[in-house]
Amino acid sequence: MDNLIADIAVFDGNESENHEAVKLLQDQNTGKSRKLYIESYGCQMNYSDSEIVASILQKEGFDTTSDIHQADLVFLNTCSIRDKAEQTVRQRLTVINVLKKQKPEMMVGILGCMAERLKIKLLEEEKIVDLVAGPDAYRDLPRLVDQVEEGDKAVNTFLSREETYADITPVRLNSNGVTALISIMRGCDNMCSFCVVPFTRGRERSRDPHSILAEAKDLFDKGFREVTLLGQNVDSYKWSAEENNKLWMEKKGISEVVSFADLLEMVAGIHPDLRVRFSTSHPKDITDEVLFAMAKHENICKNIHLPIQSGNTRILEMMNRGYSREWYLQRINRMREILGPDSGLSTDIISGFCSETEEEHQDTLSLMDEVVFDFAYMFYYSERPGTLAAKKYADDIDLEVKKRRLDEIIVKQRMHSGLRNTQDVGKTFKVLIEGRSKKSENELFGRTSSNKVVIFPKEDKKKGDYVTVIVESCTGGTLIGKIVK
Ligand code: 5AD
Ligand code: SF4
Repeated sequence: MDNLIADIAVFDGNESENHEAVKLLQDQNTGKSRKLYIESYGCQMNYSDSEIVASILQKEGFDTTSDIHQADLVFLNTCSIRDKAEQTVRQRLTVINVLKKQKPEMMVGILGCMAERLKIKLLEEEKIVDLVAGPDAYRDLPRLVDQVEEGDKAVNTFLSREETYADITPVRLNSNGVTALISIMRGCDNMCSFCVVPFTRGRERSRDPHSILAEAKDLFDKGFREVTLLGQNVDSYKWSAEENNKLWMEKKGISEVVSFADLLEMVAGIHPDLRVRFSTSHPKDITDEVLFAMAKHENICKNIHLPIQSGNTRILEMMNRGYSREWYLQRINRMREILGPDSGLSTDIISGFCSETEEEHQDTLSLMDEVVFDFAYMFYYSERPGTLAAKKYADDIDLEVKKRRLDEIIVKQRMHSGLRNTQDVGKTFKVLIEGRSKKSENELFGRTSSNKVVIFPKEDKKKGDYVTVIVESCTGGTLIGKIVK
């Protein structure tokens, strides 16, 4: 697992756009005759999907390679969330085009949200693309690849109401051997007005809890010590007996419906040394039961990613978020009451949404001051074709203004991240070691339960170990300490 290729971060003009990071896969050598190369853009869901794709194609005779020059098949697993994300992929295609001229038999496919959004138009717009497959069409990839090998172009952008890839064991390709992603649901029914995801990833559906538990247990048995349960909106995870698997549920003593809180407790119950994280929560849906489940199990990490998007209630209404500024603040109070003031909290913020006034922007800044987030992903609004906002509202804030407001948000967040880190100096934390620090051979890094990165001298410890670390100093983004136990 050590020969992982480093992440290549492709930033979007501002440092918080690491949603656009590209990851290359590790080399796999199981003696297959052909090579697959995948780059993943966008959210963790795409990284997780790439592991499912690799698994499906492994059965078809493809090993993965981290060297694009070795590839018989090149996939870009794409993101459509902002225009810049799509531009990044198009630029990448022009580079791949040069390679394809030297090696015309190399197949090029577009997967993920951009494939779903643009469908067959992608084949017309980007001549080098041979294959287009949306997020629910990955089981069909073997047939699509065959079709391309026969000299045709291939497209499948069918969106499913059922597909969860529950039975497919992902090939862990981007893994450090300690932490892994588990997809627990797909799609989103929320229809936030700015967001393209409901159109590219389809209707919400939850994955069979039995298969989630089996996957988590298998990871633990293989030495993994942390799983992140992934969904666009994990709080609406729901699995009901009528729908599926009544017998299994009866055996487990679950009567009717498995909620997200139930699922969290089940995964946490696998082993106390298996940490559980999750993403993404929704302020309108996160329940006290979830907070209580987190408080009850030491191994459920005390960290929540709870996107606010805007601090102004009128803008939140236009965004169709289903909560007000006051509701959000009340949820944060409840969270800190139940999980304690040291629990971690991160968010997403959008500047310059349609018709946002200067005062409304100030509301976002004042909400940040009230909450003091540990971390935030921050963006300026990018209108996406076909979304509710694109249909209903004018994208009427000048780019300059959007960027200036974003800068103000970033400056504030930087200050708050620094402040939250400073508050940790002198405290001790249980840390799960994830690997060697990038800067020094003699240092390791890991995370606290609240998701802060800590660097410390390695002593005789190795990745996968739990250690207690005292924090002695910090930078804006990292805690620095030493092992006490
Ligand atoms: N413009 C800017 N940011 C967006 N996001 C989603 N859609 C857009 C858009 N059209 C942001 C939201 C979301 C995160 C994943 O991306 O903050 O929570
Ligand atoms: Fe998009 Fe809203 Fe669904 Fe998140 S909850 S994926 S922002 S529609």
